[in-house]
Amino acid sequence: MTLLDQYINVRKYTEEICRLLHPEDHVPQPVPFVSPPKWHLAHTTWFFEEFLLKPHLPGYNVFNEDFSFLFNSYYNNVGKRVLRANRGAITRPATSYIIEYRHYVDMHMELLLQTKAAHPDIHSLIELGCNHEQQHQELLFTDIKYILSCNPISPIYNEDITWENQHNIEDGFVTIDEGVYEIGFTGEGFSFDNEHNRHKVYINSFEISRSLVTNGDFIEFINAGGYHNFNLWLDEGWSWVNENKITSPLYWHKAESGWQYFTLSGMQDIDPDAMLTHISFYEALAFAEWKKMRLPTEAEWEVASAEFAWGRRWEWTHSAYLPYPGFAKPEGAVGEYNGKFMINQMVLRGSSCATPEGHARSTYRNFFHPDERWQFNGIRLVKL
Ligand SMILES: [Fe+2]
Repeated sequence: MTLLDQYINVRKYTEEICRLLHPEDHVPQPVPFVSPPKWHLAHTTWFFEEFLLKPHLPGYNVFNEDFSFLFNSYYNNVGKRVLRANRGAITRPATSYIIEYRHYVDMHMELLLQTKAAHPDIHSLIELGCNHEQQHQELLFTDIKYILSCNPISPIYNEDITWENQHNIEDGFVTIDEGVYEIGFTGEGFSFDNEHNRHKVYINSFEISRSLVTNGDFIEFINAGGYHNFNLWLDEGWSWVNENKITSPLYWHKAESGWQYFTLSGMQDIDPDAMLTHISFYEALAFAEWKKMRLPTEAEWEVASAEFAWGRRWEWTHSAYLPYPGFAKPEGAVGEYNGKFMINQMVLRGSSCATPEGHARSTYRNFFHPDERWQFNGIRLVKL
């Protein structure tokens, strides 16, 4: 596939995700960490305008002078911006105008792709822009889910999406021998800066589960008083449980008939055999403690990843998100993409049901704060 085809496909898919939304669904920001769909549509476009068209397409005129302020996410090098928590206040311009913005930028990007895509720096920036937009496609699904979950009538986004009910396809444990292994990206194709440098790690022998924890497993934890037993929790996790009165995973409700969860296809009875999702690192660790097991480190996960099926849930690891040996952030604004977030976050590995096809790989490093659970996160256990 040419880079132009890749660009066109990525851009179309973002709009496809939003096609099932009503105009009003594009605007709310119920909590600061959820961005309105309209903002995602505009911000992914801003990325191409700011980093590709402005510096590299001669004679390019920006679509709207206000957009750099409205749709810059966190790039201090680019300038001032709307505070993250205020994205829902951007009721104007209308979503239809944002779609015009997308098409204006696409038209100019296609011109750039036809004339300058062979230049290695421009080529890699376009690849970064496509991968950036794919990350926002996943965020669109999880943000749409959160927004709709706040509506008392539990609207259906798409009744054909059954991600929450996915089952494990393998069971048992796989043993990895002790030894020196290499982790980190190698080879051809796109990778993020945080997957570099590939380096050696020493790993003790360990046994890792081929399957993920299920809803049924987690209901046992709840029934055994897991949320009330401080011995299972990290101190910070125990404070989080108590301050937020957490008694179940995100989107779970206890109905008279039993547990239900909000899904992208509406409210449903919980499938006990489906893979658990929407849990925090704190919950993952407390569950592991209760099972007298542990989470894998990210190095263990990567070394073992060829031995099990992954890709339905992001898998919490017990590794802090830190630079690999030799990590160097790029010069300028794109250097802010990953490096500055290497503080107070945990690494998740694999990919999820909401990750676009072909976006992830076994060296991919996702990261979230330990209390965040609106992504499709799950648990894979390792024996002690
Ligand atoms: Fe972004």
